[in-house]
Formats: sequence, structure tokens, C-alpha cells
Amino acid sequence: MAGFIQSVMDHAVSVARKAGEVVRDALRDDRKVMTKSSAVDLVTQTDEKVEQLIIQSVMEKFPKHRFIGEESVAAGESCVLTDEPTWIIDPIDGTTNFVHAFPLVAISIGFSINKQVEVGVVYSCLEDKMFTARRGKGAFCNGQPLQVSDQTDIHHSIISTEFGSNRDPEAVDKMFCSLRNILSLPVHGVRGAGTAAINMCLVASGCVDAYYEVGIHVWDIAAGSLLVLEAGGVLMDVDGGEPDLLSRRIIAANNRTIAETLVKEIAPFRLPRDDSSPEK
Ligand code: IPD
Repeated sequence: MAGFIQSVMDHAVSVARKAGEVVRDALRDDRKVMTKSSAVDLVTQTDEKVEQLIIQSVMEKFPKHRFIGEESVAAGESCVLTDEPTWIIDPIDGTTNFVHAFPLVAISIGFSINKQVEVGVVYSCLEDKMFTARRGKGAFCNGQPLQVSDQTDIHHSIISTEFGSNRDPEAVDKMFCSLRNILSLPVHGVRGAGTAAINMCLVASGCVDAYYEVGIHVWDIAAGSLLVLEAGGVLMDVDGGEPDLLSRRIIAANNRTIAETLVKEIAPFRLPRDDSSPEK
């Protein structure tokens, strides 16, 4: 099993590098922008091309594996996480950054078996930082081990979050309510990288103490979740319960003290789960 997981990791790293080249090249070209669920939920032909590149490459090596890919789901495929070996792919995490040439963009690849993430690879391709984690084997950036911060006092912390692409007035109110609560604690600062995967890598690296978001999807956080855990951090639902990668909400923190403090400040809003059918 260990050899198999390592071969998955090696393939994920190699295909993430290839995908990164495509993304870097595309930044020099015109970027034709389309929209998905809202006027600010952006997608480009590069997102679709990179997802196909990753899926094709994995299918050649692991023909029986399953996929959950952001653009495949947008095109109508179901988003169901089974016990089967599954690659969970965000071809460009930070599409809005990519469209604006804001320099933080990642290829995010998680691999799960029995619904547990075994491999997480986040390639921050404009910085050329390859973040990797294998369950039980630690988290790394370009081969250097990562460790979350040891901060336990929220008042001395930096928290990252994002506003996603939901502009429903109730959602916007709740996002601002959470932000106001957290800023007023006070905390040292609030940041947002524009990509969930890189926000999680920043937690794993110890330079951000926690990241939270309501509205993300499983492909945004599958790989990053393992990086946080393997760097010594914790995952929690925004109500303090068990984390659920398909629930569209997450706290990823350096420790439980910081995560539990955030739980008291976050005002969640309701969203359909990733694995709910459109009618629900
Ligand atoms: C988005 C980014 C963004 C987060 C959104 C995600 P995408 O992913 O991670 O930071 O706020 O919730 O959907 O669309 O760029 O792959």
C-alpha cells in the first residue's frame, strides 16, 4: 500500500508541474473569461484544459480511479465521494486571481480512499512552490518540512478568509458579520490569498494561524486539508463539529484553541452540500 500511495504522490506532483506550465503560459495570452454560478464565479478555457490534462494523465496510469473535478462538476458530472480511490481536482484554484494576473494561483490535487484524503498536492505555480503531504508522513514545501504556528492567543493571530463568489445579500451580511466579529476581538490582521488551497498552505506553513470560509467546495480544500493536518493543525466545522469536506464550510487552524475561538465569531449561512442533487 505504501508503494502505491507513493506512486500516486509522484504522479500528482508530476502532473501538477505540467499543469503549472500550462497556467504560466496562459497568463501571457489573452484570457477569455466566462461565468458559472454567478457573475463573479469565473472560469476560463485554461481551467477546462488543465483539468482535462490532469484527468487524461491520471487515467493513463490509474485507469480504475475515479475523479471529482471542479470543471467536470460544472459541466454536469455528479460530485459524490465514494470509498473508491478518487482524485479531487481543482485545476486552477484562484481563477479570479488568474484572470487578473494576481500572482497567487494553485493547482490543487487531493487523493482519497475510503473517503479519507491520503495525498495532498498544492502547486503554487507562479511562486514555484510545491506543497505536498501524505497521510501520516508530514507536510512539505519544496521538500522542506512544514509546521503550523504555536499561537494560542487569538489576539496575536493572523486569520485568513475569502468572500467567494456568493453575492446573495444574506450571505454577504453573514460574511461581514463574521469579519466584524473577528476584527473586533481584535486580531493582528485578516488576510485572503484569493485561493483556498494557498490559504491552507499558509496555515500549514505557520504564517497564518487559521483560515475559515463558508462557500468553498471539496476540490478547493481536499489537498490543503491534509497539508494542515500533517503540519500539526486541526480541521473543524464552523459550528465546532466534525469537519466535512463536502459541507461547503471549514475552519483550518493551527490548534483547537484558535479554532474554537473562531467558532464563536463565525456567522454561517446555509448552502446546498457539494453532494446534494440540484433539486434539493
Ligand atoms: C475559489 C477560491 C477562492 C474561494 C472560493 C473558491 P476557484 O476557487 O479558492 O479563494 O473564495 O470559495 O471557489 O473557483 O478559483 O477554483
